[in-house]
Amino acid sequence: MKLGVVILAAGQGTRMKSDLPKVLHRVAGKPLLGHVIDCARGLSPVEIVVVYGHGGERVRAEFDGQHDLQWVEQAQQLGTGHAVQQAMPALNACDQVLVLYGDVPLTRNETLRELVEATAHQGFGLLTVTLADPTGYGRIVRNDGGRVQRIVEQKDAGAEELTIREVNTGIMCVPRDRLSGWLSGLSNGNAQGEYYLTDVLAMAVADGFDIQVRQPAAAIEAEGVNNRVQLATLERAHQRRVAERLMTDGVTLRDPGRVDVRGTITHGRDCEIDVNALFEGQVTLGDRVRIGANCVLRNVEIGDDVEILDNCVIEQATIGRDSKIGPFSRLRPGAELVGGAHVGNFVEIKKSVIGLGSKVNHLSYIGDTEIGAGVNIGAGTITCNYDGANKHKTTIGDRAFIGSNSALVAPVTIGENATIGAGSVIGKDAPADKLTLTRAKQVSIDWKRPTKKK
Ligand code: UD1
Ligand code: MG
Repeated sequence: MKLGVVILAAGQGTRMKSDLPKVLHRVAGKPLLGHVIDCARGLSPVEIVVVYGHGGERVRAEFDGQHDLQWVEQAQQLGTGHAVQQAMPALNACDQVLVLYGDVPLTRNETLRELVEATAHQGFGLLTVTLADPTGYGRIVRNDGGRVQRIVEQKDAGAEELTIREVNTGIMCVPRDRLSGWLSGLSNGNAQGEYYLTDVLAMAVADGFDIQVRQPAAAIEAEGVNNRVQLATLERAHQRRVAERLMTDGVTLRDPGRVDVRGTITHGRDCEIDVNALFEGQVTLGDRVRIGANCVLRNVEIGDDVEILDNCVIEQATIGRDSKIGPFSRLRPGAELVGGAHVGNFVEIKKSVIGLGSKVNHLSYIGDTEIGAGVNIGAGTITCNYDGANKHKTTIGDRAFIGSNSALVAPVTIGENATIGAGSVIGKDAPADKLTLTRAKQVSIDWKRPTKKK
């Protein structure tokens, strides 16, 4: 069977009260439509067609360069049936069509796979859910034998139909050639004056189809986003799912309700994550990594036995094994800690290598610097890497010791085993093995403190 996927994404999203098209609002940092596209890709379809309308250019631009997508414009939103009809000419390689909604982001791949497999031989498949409160949804009407007969929209339903709690998710899988025929037979003579995709179901039944109904494991899989309350609900549901996967895979989460993953985490064994952690992009954790409360990690690679203490912000950095970071450290892009490093409170490191076992424990800025192994950077040391126009490099050799409150004015090199006296301003290279300092001599003089005149 060759599968084609149509994703309906032309709706206005009025209730979002936003300048951004609805399907570009994000769950876990990824547009709603991106979730649906990725889920569709997991089914290895031969083609994916996205029907766009409102804010179309912005939607297309977001997925620029993704060449497996075809885009079809639905200039006027005349209904879900009309939307699918617009996509039909683009669907020319498949024999089954799976219809998805661009604002329903949490459908699991397994759920769709089951639906698609149930219709592998030119069948008609429908995904439904049974809700305590079905208000607003199309209801699934079955006959006495329990076979699905048709779908009736809320606004067209009679009193008895409104009591039906099994509802249409909108997701269906149908034979392409038959679908074309049914779509051309749709009319908009209904309460909303729209061409309803749902009406093709009754046509299929009339043509002798036995509708294959599947239900997802949880109703959240079929939930759409119409407003920002629903957006937040789906965000939490998604995060809960991610948290459960992490725990199942052996990660300790102090509170699974207080971790956010906007990207992917790969991890080793026995990692522990305290509350309010935020992970973005690709984060890799080795074995036994411990992450304190309130940390933000964005595109970070962390080796075994690393400890990140509370309140650190770490971005595009590599942290080698046995290092200890924080609390309150900031590692910016290009920070590379080789291993066994200590980076302490109120230390900022940018585009610098910190060698094996080196320490930068308090109140420092290290930028565009290469630090060797076994170096101790005293409190308040600043690399002056910027002259107002250009950036310059600082090099610090193995086992150097930089006294507190020193300014290293780049470009400058500190030799191996060199010692810099506290409070120095080092603008010329400091040789290996020597004490270098720039400091006014300390003097003590007899002196009388002035007193207030009467
Ligand atoms: C639709 C179903 C309803 C189902 C519900 C599930 C129909 C007629 N009804 O109702 O049975 O219970 O979804 O959420 O299909 N869209 C377009 N172009 C259009 C109209 C809609 O692309 O002209 C897209 C929307 O962007 C959205 C999806 O189709 O992603 C569903 O549209 P929506 O207006 O939400 O349909 P409902 O009335 O909720
Ligand atoms: Mg809807």
